[in-house]
Amino acid sequence: MEMVRFDHNTGGIMLTEHLSEAERQYYYMDQCSIWVKEQEEKLGRPLTASVVTFGCQMNSRDSEKLTGILEKIGYTMIDSEKADFVIYNTCTVRENANLRVYGRLGQMKQTKKRNPGMFIALCGCMMQEPEVVEKLKKSYRHVDIIFGTHNIFKFAELIYRRITEDKMVIDIWKDTDQIVEDLPNDRKYPFKTGINIMFGCNNFCSYCIVPYVRGRERSRLPEEILKEIKNAVADGVVEVMLLGQNVNSYGKNLEHPMTFSELLREICKIEGLERVRFMTSHPKDLSDELIQVMAEEPKICKHMHLPLQSGSTEILNKMNRRYTKEDYLLLVDKLKKACPDISLTTDIIVGFPGETEEDFLETLDVVEKVGYDSAYTFIYSKRTGTPAAVMENQIPEDVVKHRFNRLLNRVQEIAANVCSRHEGTIQDVLVEEVNHQDDTLVTGRMSNNTVVHFKGDASMIGTIVSVKLLTCKNFYYIGEAVK
Ligand code: 5AD
Ligand code: SF4
Repeated sequence: MEMVRFDHNTGGIMLTEHLSEAERQYYYMDQCSIWVKEQEEKLGRPLTASVVTFGCQMNSRDSEKLTGILEKIGYTMIDSEKADFVIYNTCTVRENANLRVYGRLGQMKQTKKRNPGMFIALCGCMMQEPEVVEKLKKSYRHVDIIFGTHNIFKFAELIYRRITEDKMVIDIWKDTDQIVEDLPNDRKYPFKTGINIMFGCNNFCSYCIVPYVRGRERSRLPEEILKEIKNAVADGVVEVMLLGQNVNSYGKNLEHPMTFSELLREICKIEGLERVRFMTSHPKDLSDELIQVMAEEPKICKHMHLPLQSGSTEILNKMNRRYTKEDYLLLVDKLKKACPDISLTTDIIVGFPGETEEDFLETLDVVEKVGYDSAYTFIYSKRTGTPAAVMENQIPEDVVKHRFNRLLNRVQEIAANVCSRHEGTIQDVLVEEVNHQDDTLVTGRMSNNTVVHFKGDASMIGTIVSVKLLTCKNFYYIGEAVK
């Protein structure tokens, strides 16, 4: 990338020719930090910033990157929307998510009146929808910076533009094939982290807006992924969650293609790394090779999040999921055979256009047959621009609500039953925090992701402890550490 830029701080011209994208961004971080220091001297107090995250694990990981950049610029991170810099990392997978953001922004008008020097920024999936940006431009003039999912690496540059141009900065890209490595990031937990292995999605499930807002599928180079994990492990990380919209198609578009299973084997070789998780797996791409790696590699956690969406083959077809009810059940059988301890979780949508009572009963049937440890259940939400939004036979709200409640009840009953199957056993638990309600207890997770509380103290955080599971309380265990 070649460019010449007027440098507002030195009053000179800066030549950023031949710089890598990361180097350009570090240049802007430096420029912003000069400004932050000046403000702090003027005000006689530190400038604060807060990142508010909506949505999935992908967004949580992006928020760590935003936080890393804000810290590098010199902001002090706090957990309050009264901060001098508030950024909302948005989600748009369901309509509700959008409504919540507008609600928060409405309230922020008052907050900004009290602190006119503050900056409000918006980024993430919702910003990739043109009608959202139009609405913001028209009715939410107190927003300072708007960017999308493809250019999050430009955050520092956009802050710099806001400081120097003194008007609303909007920068949305339709798509990208660029992956910018080596920017700062701040991990929320010192002992575990998410690692992006790929971005975007090519599946176009007919209800889903993700392919339109996150763009086409692209995989990170394996050497970049391994380097990032090794660095994290050197910093004390023991558990990684590999992130992608469809991890099973990892590596297909690389110059030297590599399967997800091959990547997993490489990652498991990293010394000091204790646990590897991943999400999300699409049933249509889950290979026998992956099942075998899961069975063979002790570091891979015995948990598979396998979105079902619907148990009816006909609805699955309309959803463009490209598997049948029978394919899904066969996959579950194979997983259970290969890893008898495995815990299965899922996503289910109720009320997809055209869903009949019979279709819904097929979903309930799969729920009974699989025995999920937990299931995220969603009411279908119409997303403009997706094929399902214009399908006939949208289901009336009362019918959907009734089905949704029946599903939720059954899912919870089954989950409580399934969860308790480990009672009395001894399990490895990675301790995550001191319990919020009772500080004589610590809280951690088993390999299969189930939560366990037991007597302990803060010194255990980030370590793996052998715990005897004494009693199961529906979705979690009370245990005791064993020597
Ligand atoms: N309506 C309801 N749920 C949806 N999901 C994705 N799109 C929609 C929609 N339009 C759910 C799917 C997906 C999860 C992340 O969100 O179940 O797996
Ligand atoms: Fe959406 Fe389907 Fe892609 Fe998942 S696989 S992000 S549900 S389009």
